[in-house]
Parts: sequence; structure tokens; C-alpha cells
Amino acid sequence: MGKRICIVTGGANGIGRRITEKLIEAGDFVAVIDTDIISGEMLTERYSKDSFIFYHGDITGQKVIDDFINTVLQLHTRVDILVNNACIGKGGLDSCSYEDFNYVLRLGVSAPFYLTKLLKPYFSEGASIVNISSTRAFMSQPDTESYTAAKGAISSLTHGMSVTLADKVRVNAISPGWIDTGAYQKDSDYRPNHSQADHLQHPAGRVGSPDDIADMVVFLCSEKAGFITGQNIIIDGGMTKQMIYHGDNGWTLS
Ligand SMILES: NC(=O)c1ccc[n+]([C@@H]2O[C@H](COP(=O)([O-])OP(=O)(O)OC[C@H]3O[C@@H](n4cnc5c(N)ncnc54)[C@H](O)[C@@H]3O)[C@@H](O)[C@H]2O)c1
Repeated sequence: MGKRICIVTGGANGIGRRITEKLIEAGDFVAVIDTDIISGEMLTERYSKDSFIFYHGDITGQKVIDDFINTVLQLHTRVDILVNNACIGKGGLDSCSYEDFNYVLRLGVSAPFYLTKLLKPYFSEGASIVNISSTRAFMSQPDTESYTAAKGAISSLTHGMSVTLADKVRVNAISPGWIDTGAYQKDSDYRPNHSQADHLQHPAGRVGSPDDIADMVVFLCSEKAGFITGQNIIIDGGMTKQMIYHGDNGWTLS
């Protein structure tokens, strides 16, 4: 198969950067849209224009998305892979304003919806969309409702779009747990500083890495995953399967 044409939102740092790197390593072309111009320029210096372009923009703006997609479609006439990765949280019931709540929903839900809508006529046969959700779609810490709502919505958007785009595009979601993205941020001298408890609270015995997510993106976008669509794959080292009772198994509530 020739070069696949891929779009990764928020691909300049963290999990999105690792997804971008792995797709380029597989021989694909990746267009990244991101608000972080410094990391975007770092990647532009690293890769040739045949493999990578960086578009500086905030995907909560409809016109930004229009202009970005026009730029991609001037270079390529089709899209094979869309990874809706960019998202942040802005607190919850105690700390999040109405405007901030709507901002997070535009970033985490409306932008993936609109990107998919615009690209619908341009997806190739056998194309793939991967939406990055979170285990926070299913469980919460206090005061995190903006993020939790966005993640619940993108998980549902995934099965919705998989049915609408049936026979043409497979649409799946990945819900990461705790992923340490420190090595894929601006500070390249990052040294992880996790306690043993940080690792051992995961049944898999460790905190996650961006590779854990990027490898699944690559698999879901491959022909080997041709019978998988509408699914949400949880990659959290088993953390959401760990039942916690005070006083049991070494857990204490203080
Ligand atoms: N890291 C984790 O533990 C974890 C866990 C569960 C889910 N996730 C999800 O994985 C995805 C990536 O998270 P991450 O930890 O790598 O985040 P990150 O902050 O390291 O990277 C996010 C990237 O998105 C960009 N971005 C932010 N707002 C944007 C906007 N409005 N428009 C365009 N780009 C924007 C940022 O500049 C950054 O490059 C997110 O959807 C996040 O919710 C992460």
C-alpha cells in the first residue's frame, strides 16, 4: 500500500506526537493541527514535506477547521486516517465557567464531529477514524465535569459515526488511563518521577506510555483490524477493573 494520508489533531505533543511519529515511521503522510507552534516547528524541522505538515490553529474555531482541511485537500485528494486526539479539561461544577464548559465541548466533541463531516466525501474506501477518549468517560474525580462530559460524548459519537459511515470508514475510540506524556513535551530532559504506588495501583504494574496508545492507533488503522468498528478500547493497565474497598488489599482512605 502507498503512503496513507493522515490527520492528527493535537499532534505536536504528548500522545498525539507519538501517534504522528509512528504513522510517519510506517511510511505515511501526517498533517497535524495544533495550537503549540514551538513543538510544531520542531517537528517541521525533523520531517520532510512529503511526510509531514504542521498547521498552527485552534480547532475550536469553525473557520480554522475549514482552512486546515482546505490546506490538506490542496495537497492530497483523499484522507485515509483521522485521529481526533486534541482535548483538555477546564474543571467542573465548582471551577468551570459556562464559557469554558462550552470551549471543552467544542474542542473534544464539536471539532471531531465537524472534521468528520467535512471529510466525509474525501475518505478513501477502508479509511479509519480513531477518537481518543478517556477512562474518565466512565469514572470521575470531583470537579472534572467539562472533561468527563467531552469524553462521554466522543465515546458515543464513535458508535454513531461508525454506523453512519458503515461500509466506508471504520470508527473506533481508545480510552487511555494514566499515560505519562512527559517525554513528548517541549522539555526533552524529562525524567519520570513515579512512586512504586503509582505503578502498583495498576494491575499491569506500571503507568502507561504514549506508545501504549500509539501502537493501538496503528493497529486499528490497519487491515488487520478490518472487523473492528464502533468500539471503545480501554488501555489503562487494568486500573478501571481494580475494585477498591477501604482496608482491603492494602488500600486505605485517609
Ligand atoms: N495523558 C493521559 O493520561 C490521558 C489519559 C486519558 C486520555 N487522554 C487523552 O489523550 C489525548 C492527548 O492527551 P495528552 O495527554 O497527550 O495531551 P497533551 O496536552 O500532551 O497534548 C495535547 C495536544 O493538543 C494540543 N491542543 C490543545 N488544545 C488544542 C486546540 N484547541 N486546538 C488544537 N490543538 C490543541 C496541545 O497543544 C497539545 O499539543 C487527549 O484527548 C486526552 O484527553 C490522555
